[in-house]
Amino acid sequence: MGIVVYLNDQFVSHSEARVSIFDHGYLFGDGIFETLRSYDGVIFKLPEHLNRLSDSARYMRIPLPLSMGDLEKVSYEALERSSLKDAYLRITLSRGVGTKGIDPDHCGVPTLSVIVKEVPRYPPECYTSGIQTKILSIRKLAEHSLSSRVKSCNYQTNILAKMELNQHGMIEGFLLNHEGFVAEGSVSNVFVIKNGTLLTPSLSCGCLEGITRNTVIELCSQELNLIVRQTRLAAYDLYTADECFVTNTIMEIIPVVGVNGWTIGQGKPGPITLGLSRLYKDLVKNKGY
Ligand code: PDD
Repeated sequence: MGIVVYLNDQFVSHSEARVSIFDHGYLFGDGIFETLRSYDGVIFKLPEHLNRLSDSARYMRIPLPLSMGDLEKVSYEALERSSLKDAYLRITLSRGVGTKGIDPDHCGVPTLSVIVKEVPRYPPECYTSGIQTKILSIRKLAEHSLSSRVKSCNYQTNILAKMELNQHGMIEGFLLNHEGFVAEGSVSNVFVIKNGTLLTPSLSCGCLEGITRNTVIELCSQELNLIVRQTRLAAYDLYTADECFVTNTIMEIIPVVGVNGWTIGQGKPGPITLGLSRLYKDLVKNKGY
C-alpha cells in the first residue's frame, strides 16, 4: 500500500530499495526516466511513455532489460500493489555500476526501477486564477548537445531554473534556447494562443516531445478545430499572447496569466485554455486515451 518500488527484477519495500553508489546514474546522471500517472486505475498514454523511454534508451545506448510488454505488466503490477487508483509512476533506467570513470563500456547491467506513489498536486488556485511566470536566465543546451528530446536524468539546467523560480515564488517559467527562442518550461511544454491559432515551440527549438503536448495538439486540432503551428516563439509572442498555458503529465494544463510583469490577455485564464482544460478532463475521466 502507498509507495511501491520495483527494482531490478523484484518488488522491494521502499525503505529497503537500494542502488549502488557506483551506479553511473548516481555518479554522472547517466540515466533516463519517465513520469507517468494513472486515472482510476488506467495509466495515461502508457505505450506513448514507453516509446519515449525506448527512444531515450536507444539515444543513450542503455539496453532496456525488459521488453515493452513486460514493462507494461510491471507498471500495472506496481500500480495494483499500491492500491492507488490515481497515482504517480516513475520509471528510471540508469547505466548501472561502472568501474572506469565515465566509460559506459565498463558498466554492468543497467538499473531499472518503477516507483508508484501519490500524485503530487499543484495548488488549486493555479488552475482557477492562472500563474505568474518569468523568462529564466539560464538557457537550454543547444540541440546539437544532449538532445532535449531525451528525458535524461541530467536535469541540472532545469534545477537551476527551478531555484530561480523558487526565489521568485513562482511555480513555472520559460527557458530560452541558445538562439533566444522559447524552448519550454522547467518541467513543462509551453503554448500560446494568438488570434485563434495555437502556437507552440517546434521540437527543433529544444523541447521535450511532451505526451501532454501531443494530447493538447490533438485535442485542439480535432475537437476545437484550431489551427496549430509548431514554430519559433520569441519573448514578444509571450508578451503579446491572447492566452498562454503550460502542460505536463502531473500539472495537466495550467493557465499562464503573466510573464516578466506583462499581463497576458485579460490577466485571467482565457476561454480557449478553459475549454481545452475541460476537454482534457473529459478525456482522462472517460479514459478516452
Ligand atoms: N516533466 N518538458 C520538460 C523539461 C519536462 O520535464 C516535462 C515533464 C515536460 C512535459 O512532458 P509530459 O507532458 O510528457 O509530462 C516537458 C515531468 C512531469 C517530470 O519532470 O516529472
